[in-house]
Formats: sequence, structure tokens, C-alpha cells
Amino acid sequence: MVLSAAIILAAGAGTRMKTPKPKVLHSICGKPLIEHLLEKVNKLTSHIIIVVGHQGEEVKNYLGSGYTYVYQQERKGTGHAVMEAVPYLPENGTVMVLCGDTPLLNQASLQDLAEVAVDGEAGLLTAEVLSPTGYGRIVRKGNHGVDRIVEEVEASEAEKEICEINTGTYCFKASILKKFLPQLSPSPKTGEYYLTDIISFLTKQNYRVIPYMLENYQESLGVNTLQELYQAEHIMREKINHEFMLSGVRMLDPHTTYLDVEVKIGSGTVLYPQTIIEGNSTIGDNCCIGPFCHLKDVTLDNRVTIENSVAEKVIIGENSVVGPFAYLRPGTNLGAGVKIGDFVEIKNSEIDERTKVPHLSYLGDAKVGADVNFGAGSIIVNYDGKKKHQTVVEEGAFIGCNSNLIAPIHIGKEAYIAAGSTLSNDVPGEALAIARSPQINKSGLAKRLKGKKSPNSP
Ligand code: UD1
Ligand code: CA
Repeated sequence: MVLSAAIILAAGAGTRMKTPKPKVLHSICGKPLIEHLLEKVNKLTSHIIIVVGHQGEEVKNYLGSGYTYVYQQERKGTGHAVMEAVPYLPENGTVMVLCGDTPLLNQASLQDLAEVAVDGEAGLLTAEVLSPTGYGRIVRKGNHGVDRIVEEVEASEAEKEICEINTGTYCFKASILKKFLPQLSPSPKTGEYYLTDIISFLTKQNYRVIPYMLENYQESLGVNTLQELYQAEHIMREKINHEFMLSGVRMLDPHTTYLDVEVKIGSGTVLYPQTIIEGNSTIGDNCCIGPFCHLKDVTLDNRVTIENSVAEKVIIGENSVVGPFAYLRPGTNLGAGVKIGDFVEIKNSEIDERTKVPHLSYLGDAKVGADVNFGAGSIIVNYDGKKKHQTVVEEGAFIGCNSNLIAPIHIGKEAYIAAGSTLSNDVPGEALAIARSPQINKSGLAKRLKGKKSPNSP
């Protein structure tokens, strides 16, 4: 590996976000900003030092024990933050320094920076952007070399016109950081120690600082506000959608199709507008999803159709059809060729192949065999106010409309439940169960009732 270590700065208070959450834990496309960056840096070195401060425990708890954490007690600027990490640096080699709020940097760009930096004392990742406001500007020396970096608050009007910016990503020889960091002094304007000042120290002493300009400036986006968080997510989402379309996934409207980075989708699948697929979701080939679907952590086999529905932590077998207006809650596991229709809610239930729950039902904590039919309005009564209970419905059973199966209950194979029954006892296989008041017909009474005047009528 080219790098001997990397330092990721993540101690800032993120005040410009105006939210209570640590900035680097804000997510885009399903993953926190810092995790997007770490995935790439992990491939360049196994020695990663993360400087945390503001809500540092939260950041550390989220990222876990694979990193070295350094607490920056007082946030006195990026230079000060790197100073705190120095005791943990190796003696020699190249160290990459990155800001935890730049999630779009590509693996290849970081690798390129590390490789070009080897020829100098430092390497600097820059980008030419359309609106440089807020970033440090790169002041060039002649045509090639870098002279210094000037921060927005310190920049003259002429310097503010410079469109080449500092991405906040650098490579330094470890010895250079150790030598020059103690020489930094706080900015008279902000009182902060700027890491960027090291660049002018180096160039003044004729050390080589090698700039490396990104081909695609969008990679450089630093997230400081919720507006920039939106921008970063927008860029990443467009990239994800673009790649899926090239791999055979049809999107009728990529502008309203939201897919997280971990989502996998097979070819031939069609996504209708307003489809959101989040988390660790895998969608098979030739599925048809949307419009208006919100899926999270789902696994769909091939040729599943799901329309206008919400599903989380759910497995759906091939050729199954779901929706419109279904709500599949965690622990739902549908076999192949299952039909779940409109206004149906299913929770923590296993439903075997070809079973149909076509309309207006609730199934919770149930194990349902194959080829069962639930009539409209049939409900599994799984909760007695204190505890949840199990229901088993064996294969081939027929549950008539508007039945209530009060759990715990066992409905045997091929049993038939008459419509409108409320059952609290088991039903043996092939039996017919009726549990409703017998019907009484009173002849002629309807006509008599109709003829009777209501006391309020004129
Ligand atoms: C910084 C750079 C700027 C560059 C921009 C790129 C400096 C002085 N400026 O500005 O040249 O264009 O990044 O996005 O370096 N942090 C700490 N401790 C601190 C202060 C900051 O750990 O005391 C961390 C923050 O959590 C953040 C990173 O350092 O992840 C950058 O800090 P931020 O305040 O966002 O710097 P910018 O103003 O964006
Ligand atoms: Ca920043």
C-alpha cells in the first residue's frame, strides 16, 4: 500500500447543519457521510486515525473498533485536529489527510493522489468548480506549482475569483507533518489553526507540493449544510441510477427513483415512478416495482410485481404479486406465486406458495401453508391485549370472508371456515367450521316495517 496511515477529520461541531446529529453521521443514499469515505480509504491503508470531538462517542459507537480514535477536546481548527493525531502516526511514509464531510471522492482519485504525492513532500487534491464560495482557494505559482491556500474568510476580492479549490484532501510525508504542525499559528481573523497554512510553509522552503486536479469537480463537494447534503445525495443518486440503467434496469422516471448504495437489482426489472428502495435490498430479475413503493431491507426473487405498497424486512418468492396498498411488516416471508392484494397488512408471518390474501385482511404471527385462500376481511386476532399468539393454517384451507381467527389457533388441512365466523377453537383438517348466530327470516315483516311511519316524519 502506498500510504502508511490516513487521518480523517471529524471533530467539527457541524454548526452549519443546524441539526443535533453529528455532521459526519448524516446519511446519503443510506450510508453516513464518513462511511462512504472510509470504504475507499480502507482500501488504501489499514491504519486509519479518526479525529473526533463534538459528539465523538456517537461517531465512535457507530463506526466500531476497527479504527484509532483521537479526541480533540477543543475544536481549534483543522491544523489543530491533525496535531492531535500526530502521536499515533508511524515514523515514516506517506499519510493521507481527509475531511469526514467529503463523501463523493472516488477510490481512483485518492489512489492517484497517493501515487503522485510520492514525488514530493506533499500532494494536494484540487478541483475546478463553478461556485467556489466557502472553499479554500488554490493560489498558483506560475503555471504549475502551488504557492498557498487561502481560506474564504481571509481571501481578497481577487483571490475569491479563483475557481480552483482545496478539496481538503492531502498527502504528507509523516516527517513533514511532525516538523511543520508545531509551527502553525492561529488565524488572527478566526483564531483557528489552519492545516492549509502548511502548504505555504512548504513552498516557501522550496519543498515540492504536488497538486492533483480532479477530472470531475463534483467529487470534491464538502457537506457543511443540509442544502449541500441534498446536493451530495442528488449527485450520488444520479450515479447509482445511471449505472443501473446501463445494467438493464428500466426506470420510467429516474428523477423520482431513489435507490440506496447497497441495493442490488437484476436485469429486466422495471421501476415505475416514485419508487424508494432502501437499505440492504436485493431485487431479482424481471420484477415490476411501483409506482409508489417504499421498500427497505427486502429480498425479492425473480418476476415479483409490487405496486403502491410498503414493505420492510420482507422476503418475497418468485412470481408473487403484491398490492396495490399492501403493508408488509418485518418478518413476512412469502413463498412463490403468492398474492397479497389491496388493504392487506401482514406481520411476522410465513405464507407458502400460491396462497391468496386478496383484500382487506390482517395476518400477524401466522404460519400459513400453500394454496390457502383468505376471503375479504378475514383477520388473524393475534393479540389479546397482553401477549401475541401464534396461528397455524394448514395447506388448502379456505377462510371465508370476515372471519376472525383468535390465536392461538390451528386450522387443519383443507378445512373450510364459513364466512363471518369468529373462531377461538382449533378446526380439524377437512372440517367445516361455522361460528355465527343462526339466521332467522320473519316473513312479511319487512313490508310491515316499511309501511310504519317514523315518529319524526311529517
Ligand atoms: C476546509 C478547508 C478548506 C477546504 C474545505 C474542503 C481548512 C482551514 N479549510 O474548510 O480549505 O476547501 O475544507 O471541504 O482546513 N474539523 C476538526 N476539528 C476542527 C475543525 C474541523 O476535526 O477543529 C474537521 C471537521 O469535522 C470537518 C473537517 O475538519 O470534517 C473540515 O472542517 P470544516 O469546518 O468543514 O472546514 P471547511 O470550512 O469546510
Ligand atoms: Ca467542510
